[in-house]
Amino acid sequence: MSGSDELARARRLVEAARSVAVLTGAGVSAESGVPTFRGPEGLWKGRRAETLATPAAFLQDPAEVWAFYRWRIESLRGVEPNPGHAALVRLEARCERFWLLTQNVDGLHRAAGSVHVVELHGTIRVARCIRCGSERDAEAALAGLGGGSIPLCAACGAHLRPAVVWFGEALPAAALAAAEEAVTGCDLMLVVGTSGIVQPAASFARAARARGAHVIEVNPETTPISGIAEVSLRERSAHLLPLLVAGGADRRDE
Ligand code: OAD
Repeated sequence: MSGSDELARARRLVEAARSVAVLTGAGVSAESGVPTFRGPEGLWKGRRAETLATPAAFLQDPAEVWAFYRWRIESLRGVEPNPGHAALVRLEARCERFWLLTQNVDGLHRAAGSVHVVELHGTIRVARCIRCGSERDAEAALAGLGGGSIPLCAACGAHLRPAVVWFGEALPAAALAAAEEAVTGCDLMLVVGTSGIVQPAASFARAARARGAHVIEVNPETTPISGIAEVSLRERSAHLLPLLVAGGADRRDE
């Protein structure tokens, strides 16, 4: 099947779907200039994830972990959502039920205007107290602190940490519950820009497919999800997603 046949088939599936779950990964933000994790230019390249993105690393050297996250937070300044994020906002407007399950911590789906966003891995834009759980804006918490400093909780004085999910940690219960609802409630799952190897997100498409939902993948590369997807669109998401959702009616107006 040619690329345009595949796109036409995927568009028919999207147009027919009423309940849509979208699972996104770092590839969706790549064209906004946010690095992905794996691959030649990936964030994990040259770094051992376990030295930076684990609770044990934070206990051992919170300043080093914060230096990494501070750099990531600062590098998001001025970064804008791209046409792929915008297309998912339009798709949400057309669906009766919609869940945007994202592994991304950059906040770009919300910045684009997506409403029902489930941040499976938390958000880099918030810092949370390791003792009392109070949260505050991460940039504000870091403002005025020198490199090598650790932001402290205004309420109880304990260390703040990035409000992201680290390796070895459970996903937030509310996010898991929303993902379960999406997997069981969707009639189409669209998987975009993820390598599909980090659990539990990597299992969502298989679970949805096993229930009879359609699965479409958008990714320039083959992934473990490609074998499950009925249609794999080998394209960049900022280019492909606008084509995929073009022209449908807004069901909220019906
Ligand atoms: P990865 O870096 O593992 O994978 C990014 C995927 O995006 C790859 O499959 C690329 O082929 C694809 N890609 C690259 N550019 C793209 C583009 N322009 N359009 C569409 N796809 C593109 O990122 P994730 O799958 O998101 O977890 O990684 C999952 C999790 O692993 C992350 O949330 C993070 C990481 O460790 C934690 O930090 C807990």
